[in-house]
Amino acid sequence: MQSDADGLNVKRILVLNGPNLNLLGTREPEIYGYTTLNDINELLRERAESAGVDAIDFLQSNFEGELVEAIQKSRGRYDFILLNAGALTHYSIALRDAIASVPVPVIEIHLSNIHRREEFRHTSVIAPVVMGQICGFGVDSYIAALDIAIRKIRKDTK
Ligand code: DQA
Repeated sequence: MQSDADGLNVKRILVLNGPNLNLLGTREPEIYGYTTLNDINELLRERAESAGVDAIDFLQSNFEGELVEAIQKSRGRYDFILLNAGALTHYSIALRDAIASVPVPVIEIHLSNIHRREEFRHTSVIAPVVMGQICGFGVDSYIAALDIAIRKIRKDTK
């Protein structure tokens, strides 16, 4: 945890979204809803700002390596990562290893309930290295993850 000039704790959150999540709003709306990723990010930004989070940054990438690099660089820069890894959740050992390599806690997010869907979605290779998983609540999965991250950061700084 870094400190700012006033000695207050600096709270920074990184929101990462993986492949195809840039298409939210038009992508299989019966599963993922009609809310766009921009709308989700705006909701999170407003909520984070009113909770006193110093910075909330957003990255969506369709490329595994770009997400791996973002996780690697998060060390010392962020207090929490909120991650919807999309399909990479189910097979990316590289993403899992990146998460395990940094001390930044990660909350795994899914809009849909992956455990109620096709069998290949029931496995999350990142689940064993994240703090916890929130799935099945649509946009509220992101909001719940943000609220938990904020509560955890506050507890740590007491
Ligand atoms: C998802 C679930 C994944 O199985 C899928 O590949 C996605 C979205 C979700 O948010 O429900 O891209 O992560």
